[in-house]
Amino acid sequence: MGARNTLQIPVILSCILLFGAILTTSLEVGYYKKCKFCPQAEDIVRGVVYKYVSKEPGLGAGLIRMFFHDCFVRGCDASILLDPTPQNSNPEKLAIPNFPSLRGFEIIDEAKAALEHVCSGIVSCADIIAFAARDAAFILGKISYDIPSGRLDGKVSNATEVLGALPAPFHNLTVVKALYAVQGLSIDDAVALSGAHSIGRSHCSSFTSRLYPTIDTTMNQGFGSFLRTQCPQNAMDDGVVPQDFVTPNKLDNQYFKNVADLKGLFFSDWSLLTSSETAKLLNDFKNDPELFKTKFAESMVKMGNIGGTQGEVRKTSCRVVNY
Ligand code: HEM
Repeated sequence: MGARNTLQIPVILSCILLFGAILTTSLEVGYYKKCKFCPQAEDIVRGVVYKYVSKEPGLGAGLIRMFFHDCFVRGCDASILLDPTPQNSNPEKLAIPNFPSLRGFEIIDEAKAALEHVCSGIVSCADIIAFAARDAAFILGKISYDIPSGRLDGKVSNATEVLGALPAPFHNLTVVKALYAVQGLSIDDAVALSGAHSIGRSHCSSFTSRLYPTIDTTMNQGFGSFLRTQCPQNAMDDGVVPQDFVTPNKLDNQYFKNVADLKGLFFSDWSLLTSSETAKLLNDFKNDPELFKTKFAESMVKMGNIGGTQGEVRKTSCRVVNY
């Protein structure tokens, strides 16, 4: 009994400190379990993510991308989830890099509804995104890691902040490196996280500037000719292609093989070959799938630490701020 009490003291202290997260503290693995606010939180999210992603793997890609797009703009604060309102008609989710391509919102909605049912007002939407991305990485890549939690949800979401914060497919390595550095992430993180381009899809409009009027010399010419058949010039609608034609639903190191073969979709993918530092890491990941998995997990955790913990836990829906 005495021993149990002694053990509980640090946990309680840590929970009290975490309550003070509104001030400064860092995130904690197992936050909802340790503090007994909602011990089943991570299991609930996992169940919902499994339900959707096992049926449609592309949605798992959407969740991983959602985490990235959330964290790079105002930190990991679920600002990506807020819907337009009369007071704020232009939130992040309507910005060009997010609309209409970002997907998986319905999974977050369902997870939030399930959580509200059992422990209302406890689990932040920002943590739901972080858990969901982690679970998607496991389902699609057997990549397993603990993700610290205790994030709070932001109250501000502004589409005008998105373009300047996110790397674009036409950016060169210097720009990509600078945008990661702003977030406290290294170029090694950039290379590891780019491995996410081994799953999911891209709209043709994200890379057709590399196909017409001529196929970019930085692209394998045969691959470029093939992409032209998938994305005809002046097509009526914006088609989609897999990011990785070899193992489209597996989060694996195939991306690095593709880039080395000049078969990455984006100029930014190719740009990873343009410094000896990034080219070496790319080659290491290409040759060592386990090394990629380890570094990808580490960089996802690091990305999850971006941003302050100022804010609230949204009530009922992740799409609206509390009154
Ligand atoms: C230089 C950095 C990056 C650039 C320029 C970039 C750009 C893009 C673009 C243009 C698309 C296609 C969107 C579309 O047209 O539908 C895309 C898709 C995707 N990106 Fe990135 N990305 C970058 C880094 C990342 C990172 C760090 C992650 C996550 C760790 C990520 C995960 C994904 C995923 C999973 C998809 C597929 C989404 C889906 O199928 O719904 N990307 N990216």
